[in-house]
Amino acid sequence: MKNVTKTPAHVAIIMDGNGRWAQRRHHPRIFGHIRGASRIRDIVLEADRLGVKALTLYAFSTENWERPEAEKSVLWKLLIKFLKREEAELARNGVRLRMIGDIDRLDSKVREVLDPVVSRLSENTGLQLTFAVSYGARQEILLAAKAYARDCLEKRLCPDSLSEEGFSKYLANGDLGPLADVDLVIRTSGEFRISNFLLWQSAYAEYIFLEKCWPDFLPVDLRNAVESYLKRDRRFGGVTLPPLRSAPKEETSA
Ligand code: IPE
Ligand code: IPE
Ligand code: MG
Repeated sequence: MKNVTKTPAHVAIIMDGNGRWAQRRHHPRIFGHIRGASRIRDIVLEADRLGVKALTLYAFSTENWERPEAEKSVLWKLLIKFLKREEAELARNGVRLRMIGDIDRLDSKVREVLDPVVSRLSENTGLQLTFAVSYGARQEILLAAKAYARDCLEKRLCPDSLSEEGFSKYLANGDLGPLADVDLVIRTSGEFRISNFLLWQSAYAEYIFLEKCWPDFLPVDLRNAVESYLKRDRRFGGVTLPPLRSAPKEETSA
């Protein structure tokens, strides 16, 4: 049981609503992606300023591969642009960049830019910034189960000794250790669903769903979300006991 008094260590954001944001303004969907991508930098810096230790941004899901080629190609161009434009600033702030998801599906042109940037920022010890790209939580859990089963078959492990902590190490962000569990999930765009995001790691996260679409999400919205998180009572299935008071005199003297 833990009453929340500290900044959430791990914040995860489902950056949703780019397409609708653009369509409401009578623009093509990609206009929303362009604006949405330009928001990321300020949110990363604000998370760092607020004392968040790990920030995971859902950028492209396993299911998003079903989208039209033209839209996907804009998304990859925006990812490349973000990496080229922001690497220096991320480095200055000591941000470590990581990816989770099946990035082997990405085009080699994207990987040519992505891999070296990730590698150059990999030793940083500041904010752990993770992009979930080509990511699906079910796929992640399946992969972990397969890897774990292989270790059992090869007699490196015994199924009876499997613990939650032991299994977590097989998941995509197992290397985050104690930071892997998500404290706060924020989803923009008024949708109340998880869309296959960090199912294991968010088992006891707090959730904040906002009406505004991602291109309208500002640093102040992140600050407000953290403030609202700080007012929550995280009981983890326990009970919150009132503060201890000394017993009234007549009871103690009896
Ligand atoms: C989120 O915005 C970005 C991605 C999923 C890549 P959407 O593109 O899902 O925008 P809406 O939800 O259709 O408005
Ligand atoms: C979730 O948004 C994935 C990302 C924000 C990257 P979607 O727009 O793909 O999810 P659904 O279709 O609303 O569930
Ligand atoms: Mg969407």
